[in-house]
Amino acid sequence: MRRIQVAPSLLSSNFARLEDEVRRVERAGADLLHLDVMDGQFVPNITFGPVVISAVKRVAKLPLDVHLMIEEPLRYVREFANAGADHLIVHVEACRDVVATLDAIHAQGVAAGISLRPGTPFEAIEEYLDRVATVLVMTVEPGFGGQAYRPEQEAKLRRARELRELHGFEYDIEVDGGISRATAASSVAAGAEILVAGSALFGDPDLEGLIRDFHSLRVGAELRPEA
Ligand code: DX5
Ligand code: ZN
Repeated sequence: MRRIQVAPSLLSSNFARLEDEVRRVERAGADLLHLDVMDGQFVPNITFGPVVISAVKRVAKLPLDVHLMIEEPLRYVREFANAGADHLIVHVEACRDVVATLDAIHAQGVAAGISLRPGTPFEAIEEYLDRVATVLVMTVEPGFGGQAYRPEQEAKLRRARELRELHGFEYDIEVDGGISRATAASSVAAGAEILVAGSALFGDPDLEGLIRDFHSLRVGAELRPEA
């Protein structure tokens, strides 16, 4: 079992005070900062792009985990790398040429990850597993924070773990969507090692306690139910 890492999704933070929010999650013990880029095409929502990421980079100590929910991300790999992304995660459904996209990310010296929507079968990413540092399993439909966790997607976490063991792949397994006190333990039991959490983390007055509880999870562990 690898160590659990916690990646707060800044989508649920107060954007008017982004620097303070970054400092707050860093002090609370987060491991990565998760940044959700949405283009209004691949998903119905629009968030932010490289300008905001480079602003976060200037104040952040932690690595930036950039989740690209945009059509044809190959067009913007260089911009996001220059903005300071440490990890660039692309959606298999959004790329015309997945291998070329992953290669372009690597050429920028950035770690590459692959993600898939809840409706996309795991087989769609299997041929790329030897090329990625992260497999990001979506447990909500990408586009918005605050949606309900979809437990049936845990089958993909288990499959990611099985195939890694079977073939000796090296990727980390990341989960994104609806992660909270109520859902994190079963997600970790299924194979998740990097927990993205937006609304649960930023909505909790005891941010530090929640991150500590996430860190303490092990396969089969239970968290206290939500108060
Ligand atoms: C959804 C984003 C998530 C989102 C998670 O498309 O990829 O990162 O911010 O938010 P919660 O944790 O509230 O489901
Ligand atoms: Zn995300």
